[in-house]
Amino acid sequence: MGNNLKDLHCIEFLQNILPRLSLRWSGYRKVHGQVCKRIRRRIQELHLADLASYHSYLKKHPAEWSILKDLCRITISRFYRDRVVFQILEKQILPLLAETSEKRGEKALRCWSAGCASGEEPYTLALLWDLRLKPQYPQINFQVIATDVAPECLKRAEEACYPFSSIRELPEDIKTQGFCLRAGGYHLQPTFRTYISFLREDIQDSHPNSHYDLILCRNLVFTYFEEDFQAKILSHLAERLAPGGFLVIGAHEKLPPGTGLKEVANCFYQKCSLRN
Ligand SMILES: C[S@@+](CC[C@H](N)C(=O)[O-])C[C@H]1O[C@@H](n2cnc3c(N)ncnc32)[C@H](O)[C@@H]1O
Repeated sequence: MGNNLKDLHCIEFLQNILPRLSLRWSGYRKVHGQVCKRIRRRIQELHLADLASYHSYLKKHPAEWSILKDLCRITISRFYRDRVVFQILEKQILPLLAETSEKRGEKALRCWSAGCASGEEPYTLALLWDLRLKPQYPQINFQVIATDVAPECLKRAEEACYPFSSIRELPEDIKTQGFCLRAGGYHLQPTFRTYISFLREDIQDSHPNSHYDLILCRNLVFTYFEEDFQAKILSHLAERLAPGGFLVIGAHEKLPPGTGLKEVANCFYQKCSLRN
């Protein structure tokens, strides 16, 4: 079968099965190739002939749906992804949160990276905090909870060793102070790991039980999940935000309507503070 036809069959298959997993096709338009490759591998493993037989297999083996859901997971990430977002965090949002926390006498700044992949996003926060902001706010206890559903991603996050392509976009000084090159990989310096607690959690089922000054939920819920699910998860995220706290979404994402959060910059939404 020609590659184009194979691709068309897989697209049709995905359009059919994604809603059953509460996922939406539009999120997969650009990245379906890698999912199709995984599904073809799975079909071979099961010694099945094609997508049609895999579809029948799914009907007879309900447990296969959870394997298929894992195959549909997109785990692409990189340090300092969407440079402007991290510049705004460094220059405006984190200083504002740190100052507010100092004024309240709390001396803690709590962040949650939801869908943290292999640690690229939470470690970027830790690097920015430690190297650029901590000297101004030495009293602040900066903490990041980083959650993901994929155990293999969390394992890579714990190992904290990356190819150059993952760290390429970081500013030069952060790259040199943050990593050491050995055994073919860029190893994050241990100091920066101390800020992060990694946790396995499915955002469709549960959320860390605390309040956060900053939540990053980028390139996950508002790209891949069905609209109904987006609204439901958004209300949980808003609940988890501390008053005055910020939610950051992906550069190509939009929040469903009726959030109660105020858009303060592209990708940045704020929960009203108690004083407002
Ligand atoms: C495309 S990556 C985005 C990583 C990072 N937030 C970024 O923007 O670079 C999406 C991540 O969400 C995780 N993920 C997918 N479904 C999830 C779920 N239901 N609960 C928690 N994490 C999930 C994937 O394993 C993956 O690591």
